[in-house]
Amino acid sequence: MSTTPLKVAVTGAAGQIGYSLLFRLASGSLAGDRPIELRLLEIEPALKALEGVVMELDDCAFPGLAGVEIGSDPEKIFDGVNLALLVGARPRGPGMERGDLLEANGAIFTAQGKALNAVAADDVRVGVTGNPANTNALIALKNAPDIPAERFSALTRLDHNRAISQLAAKTGAPVTDITKMTIWGNHSATQYPDLFHAEVAGRNAAEVVGDQEWVESTFIPTVAKRGAAIIEARGSSSAASAASATVDAARDWLFGSAEGDWVSMAVVSDGSYGVPEGLVSSFPVTTAGGDWSIVQGLEIDDFSRGRIDASTAELAEERDAVTQLGLI
Ligand code: NAD
Ligand code: LMR
Repeated sequence: MSTTPLKVAVTGAAGQIGYSLLFRLASGSLAGDRPIELRLLEIEPALKALEGVVMELDDCAFPGLAGVEIGSDPEKIFDGVNLALLVGARPRGPGMERGDLLEANGAIFTAQGKALNAVAADDVRVGVTGNPANTNALIALKNAPDIPAERFSALTRLDHNRAISQLAAKTGAPVTDITKMTIWGNHSATQYPDLFHAEVAGRNAAEVVGDQEWVESTFIPTVAKRGAAIIEARGSSSAASAASATVDAARDWLFGSAEGDWVSMAVVSDGSYGVPEGLVSSFPVTTAGGDWSIVQGLEIDDFSRGRIDASTAELAEERDAVTQLGLI
């Protein structure tokens, strides 16, 4: 195990997700015993609040926390980072779709893409949580031409975890028995959580459930609209679960996914499964050594085809919108 601290940038560090995420990172949920150095980016008006969060990090006396730096200049904060978790962006409120945030948030990711391009470490990985996450990741990667596009991903792990939890509750199986879950497409209401390739204790999940009506009318909408349900109940969007999924995704990306299973990540499409090349779309992936590869050879029936196509059509529309806004 390396004893060189892993340099991890978190943007929007004084926000809701930040308040959970920083403590998970510092306590070892990401890198285990490897020390971690936190680089925290915020806008100027939020720096005072961030100072308070840093006092709390200090007060935890985390053995693995090798240092914390805060600031509002992305070129200073991203200098030499191995991992950048781009969380900072406005969340949606009740009645909004995540795509409504494109105009408000898109510009954040042009500036941060450029800064990462200029100063991040050669091995940087960039995970985008801020919404609309897939298209923000596309904006960031297009503004960072010297960083390979494969080093960017957007978070659909929260949807993946939500799908596992719903399936476990339906079947009575422990979450550890649920494998090969896939979220396809956009982190939006059009996403497609796929039970036809998932397994419950090694058996096909759709067959175990045996209820197509439940899959279409309960499972898929519950997972796809979970973010809105949380906003409705809490008055603000998911935070601790989003932080937890951000850690899960980064840990698996950097240190590898479980043998015999796969995870969902939104990554730049190479055209696999008919997803137009260049869109940042969620796929089943395995990860090893800091790289991901799309699981190949899954059979896609007409039902799944229609769902995947609908979500990727939305991603193409988002790409057109940010092109028109001059962000890519
Ligand atoms: P929040 O409003 O509590 O915090 C966002 C923080 O970002 C604020 O502190 C703000 O000052 C900061 N910020 C804004 N512009 C910035 C910039 N240019 N540089 C650095 N920091 C900046 O929001 P939150 O609840 O923490 O959510 C953050 C984002 O994550 C939202 O867009 C939300 O929709 C998204 N989200 C995504 C998922 C997912 O699964 N992909 C899940 C939950 C939330
Ligand atoms: C979520 O899925 O909880 C987040 O993307 C927040 C939202 O706007 O739904």
